[in-house]
Amino acid sequence: MNYLKGEKFELTFDHSTTLDHKPRVLILYGSLRDRSYSRLLAQESAKILEFMGAEVKIFNPYGLPLFDNDKSIDHPKVQELRELSLWSEAQVWSSPELHGNMSGVMKTQIDWIPLTLGAVRPTQGKTLAVMQVSGGSQSFNAVNNMRILGRWMRMITIPNQSSVAKAYQEFNEDESMKDSSFRDRVVDVMEELMRFTYLTRNHSKQLVDRYSERKA
Ligand SMILES: Cc1cc2nc3c(=O)[nH]c(=O)nc-3n(C[C@H](O)[C@H](O)[C@H](O)COP(=O)(O)O)c2cc1C
Repeated sequence: MNYLKGEKFELTFDHSTTLDHKPRVLILYGSLRDRSYSRLLAQESAKILEFMGAEVKIFNPYGLPLFDNDKSIDHPKVQELRELSLWSEAQVWSSPELHGNMSGVMKTQIDWIPLTLGAVRPTQGKTLAVMQVSGGSQSFNAVNNMRILGRWMRMITIPNQSSVAKAYQEFNEDESMKDSSFRDRVVDVMEELMRFTYLTRNHSKQLVDRYSERKA
């Protein structure tokens, strides 16, 4: 089959926005420390998303084994993570920047989510927002690399993102985030994630349909 001779390009317009269920958002964070700012940023995002009408679940990475597709595949934490990814229609990834990159804890979680689980694709076509915290001045290494990871997982990564510099200055003792332009940006990002999730949810089948895969 040759595209130019055989198939014709098809596009389906659906102007409805399905509002029959709340956006289901899975939040992942990338640290195991007791007072982890990437976790606090994840919690703040959850509060904002719930206020906007989402149903939110946060995965606790404590106890997740190092990635090993041979031995640990039946581990309960791996199963929990995979089920949450299947359940979600949107995700937020909140990582610390460590050595100019996302943390190993963050990357391990994504490594444990397969592109395909039988006929199901646990991440494909889902919306994604990326965020990072840093100890130093504002930088974008972790969010940039998570964008690459989102592409690899075939997700719809939204344009806006959050990078919280000197994160140790930005949270209160009760773990809430201080009012600041950083927090305003988090609200912007969550609004955009909600909009992209509502606007693409009827279309994800069409958006991830590939000629090369139909052909195969
Ligand atoms: C090993 C290590 C490497 C780090 N590398 C960076 C870095 O490259 N850039 C930066 O701004 N902060 C860096 N930091 C600071 C962390 O980003 C900061 O402490 C952050 O809050 C850690 O995330 P957590 O609070 O969620 O554990 C590093 C910290 C550690 C322990």
